[in-house]
Amino acid sequence: MAEVASETITQANPYKRIMLKMSGEILMGDKEYGLDPDTVDRMAQDIKDVIEMGIEVCVVVGAGNIFRGVSGAAAGMDRTTADYMGMLGIVINALALQNALENMGIQTRVQSGIRMDSICEPYIRRKAMRHMEKGRVVIFAAGTGNPYFTSDTAGALRASEMDCDAIFKGTKVDGVYTADPMKDPDAKRYDKISFIDVLTKDLRVMDATAISLARENNIPIVVFSVKDKGNFAKAARQEGNFTVVSN
Ligand code: GTP
Repeated sequence: MAEVASETITQANPYKRIMLKMSGEILMGDKEYGLDPDTVDRMAQDIKDVIEMGIEVCVVVGAGNIFRGVSGAAAGMDRTTADYMGMLGIVINALALQNALENMGIQTRVQSGIRMDSICEPYIRRKAMRHMEKGRVVIFAAGTGNPYFTSDTAGALRASEMDCDAIFKGTKVDGVYTADPMKDPDAKRYDKISFIDVLTKDLRVMDATAISLARENNIPIVVFSVKDKGNFAKAARQEGNFTVVSN
């Protein structure tokens, strides 16, 4: 399997190592829940495109397509139990993505925040670093391993630990808007915005814990749409529509 060595950073390729944070819901495609194999393959191809640009990529995925801790808690379930069920959902998504990437010849390692050694590696920062240096895609599963923390927070935490140059937040919209573009036709997209403005305007790019972590560690967040094929590589080349949240 291909192990792609990192190239030097160029103007067209300003990043050396990035974290892709995507919601689990992306992986269900047009279905109401679960995994849509074509969409999982398409996301894997998008990641492959970025790896082939010589950029090191790690991934944090959510579990909204399988189980939402918060909705479980809202339905009367104990919050911690509901969150652990969400973390198990993330592991399912991580294994699906690993399988799709490896079918395309991209080496991957799944590391889990909760030990499940028969299924994947435990999270070990230095090992994850070595994997990435070898051009492997590291998929961090099971969130932070703790209840009450979202997968966005896990994305910001792992990006900080991995010294990522940016967090790419793949969503259904192509950036951060002044208002919800699905509801308000006059909503305008920001090209760039500061962390402080995101927090004070309550723009909900990511939860406040994730934003604060990215801000403290000075890691810009690139918000882009993963709905269309090839958008991840485009945003990584700084082409097309996206919003950069930074200091
Ligand atoms: P290098 O040290 O760079 O060669 O990395 P490597 O990941 O290839 O070496 P290692 O011998 O650690 O892993 C070989 C394979 O076993 C890889 O597919 C790992 O993902 C897998 N592996 C390693 N540790 C664990 C573990 O604790 N649990 C599971 N399930 N798989 C593991």
